[in-house]
Amino acid sequence: MNPPLINLNGVSKNFRTADGSDRVVLEGVDFTLKEGEIVALLGKSGSGKSTLLRIMAGLLPADKGVTEYRGQQLFGPARGIAMVFQSFALFPWLTVQQNVELGLEAQGIPKTIRAQQAEAAIEMIGLSGFEGALPRELSGGMKQRVGIARAIVMKPDVLLMDEAFSALDVLTAETLRKDMLELWESKKTPMKGMLIVSHNIEEAVMMADRILIFSSDPGRVRVEIKVPLSRERSEDSPKVRALIDEVYTQMTFAPVPITGDQYAQAHQAYRLPEADISQMEGLLELLADDPFNGRADLPKLAEEAGLSDDDLFPVYEALRLLGLVHIEHGDIYLTRLGQQYCQADQAFRKRLFGQQLLTNVPLAARIHHSLMQEKSGEIRKEPFLNLLEEFLSAEEATQMLEVAVEWGRYGEMYEYNYHTGMLKLPEVE
Ligand SMILES: Nc1ncnc2c1ncn2[C@@H]1O[C@H](COP(=O)(O)OP(=O)(O)OP(=O)(O)O)[C@@H](O)[C@H]1O
Ligand SMILES: [Mg+2]
Repeated sequence: MNPPLINLNGVSKNFRTADGSDRVVLEGVDFTLKEGEIVALLGKSGSGKSTLLRIMAGLLPADKGVTEYRGQQLFGPARGIAMVFQSFALFPWLTVQQNVELGLEAQGIPKTIRAQQAEAAIEMIGLSGFEGALPRELSGGMKQRVGIARAIVMKPDVLLMDEAFSALDVLTAETLRKDMLELWESKKTPMKGMLIVSHNIEEAVMMADRILIFSSDPGRVRVEIKVPLSRERSEDSPKVRALIDEVYTQMTFAPVPITGDQYAQAHQAYRLPEADISQMEGLLELLADDPFNGRADLPKLAEEAGLSDDDLFPVYEALRLLGLVHIEHGDIYLTRLGQQYCQADQAFRKRLFGQQLLTNVPLAARIHHSLMQEKSGEIRKEPFLNLLEEFLSAEEATQMLEVAVEWGRYGEMYEYNYHTGMLKLPEVE
C-alpha cells in the first residue's frame, strides 16, 4: 500500500510573542492527506491554519511531531508540494510568463523547456494570450490564475491552497473554484491530493471529500466531516444544504472548555448587542464612503454620524461580532468581508449577513438549527426564552430574542410571526 501523500503526527508549534513569552499555536495536530482526496480545513482566524500549511509545505519546521511526505520525513520544501496564496504573491515587475517560469528557473531547467512548460500551465488555467501582461494589468481573478499556474507548472502531486479564493469577489471565486475542480477531474496535471484552507463553508462543502474543523488556542483538528457526494454538486441541492448546515453547527457549537466559568461563557455567548439592521447598514456605509474610505477614528465617526457613543457602541459591537469590522487602537475599519458587504447588492448582503450570523451568533445558529431539526419547520419562542432566562432577566431575555429575530429575518435564516409567537424557517421560493 502506498503511504499517504502527507502525514502529520503530533505536530506542535510555538511562536515567541512580543513580550518574550511563548504562544502555543498548534498542539498535537494529526493529519493525513491520502491519494485522490480533496480536504478542506476550516477554522477561526488565527487558529494556525496557515502555520500548519507552511509546515506541510516544508517552509517552516515544527517544534514537535512528525511531518512526512509520501512516507519520508520532510526537512524542507519538497518538489511534489506546491502552494497557492491568498495574496497571489506575484512579482509586479515580471510578466505572467516570467512569474510562472520562476520556480522552473530555480530548478535549473533550460530556457526553451521552461517556456513550453509555463505556456502549458498558463493554458491549462485559462490565461492564454496574457503571457506578456504584467500583474497590475490583470484582474484579481486573473492574478490568482497566475498564482495557480505558478504552482501547477511545478507538477506537484500535492497542492496546498491557503484561502486562495478569499480575496476575490464572489462570482470570480466561484468560477475559479469550478475551473480548479475541472482541472482536478481532467487529470491533466499529476495532482493527487489537494488541501484547501478556507473560511467559506459553502466552498468547503462544494469542493472537499472531507472537511476538518480546526479549533483555536491551541490549534488542532476538532471535528472531521465526511462529504459523501459525487463531484457533481449543486449549491442548492438538499444534500449540500444539509452538509453546510452541519458544518455551521459544528463550528458554532464548539464544546465549552472545562476550564473557566461556564455560566459566564454562556451568558457571553447568548448576549447580543441591541443594534438594528438600519443602524448597522448606516454605519457601514458611512465608514465605507468618503472621507473614511473604510477606516475611521471612532470619535470622528461618531461626530460624522451625529450620534453618541452610547448609541454607537452596540452597533460597533454587532458589526464586530458579525466579522464586518475590526476595532483596534480606537480605530474601526472594514474587514475584507465588510468591504465585500458594502459593495454588494441587497440580495448578496442578506446572504452574507445570514452566513455570518450562523457562524458568529450562537443564539441565531441555535434557532436556525433547531428549526432545521423540526419536521414542521416551526417552533414556539418559549423554549428559546427559557434558555435565555437561565442567564438573563426575563426582560433582557425578551430583548435578546427580539434582536436575534430581527437579525435572523434580515439574513433570511428564519421568520417570526408576532401573532402566533412561532419561529419558522423562511419559505423557499
Ligand atoms: N512568524 C510568526 N511569529 C509569531 N507569531 C506568528 C507567526 N506566524 C503566525 N503567528 C501567530 O500564530 C497564530 C496563527 O497564525 P496563522 O496565520 O497560522 O492563523 P490562520 O488560522 O491562518 O489565520 P487566518 O484565518 O487569519 O489566516 C496567530 O496568532 C499569529 O499571530
Ligand atoms: Mg491564514
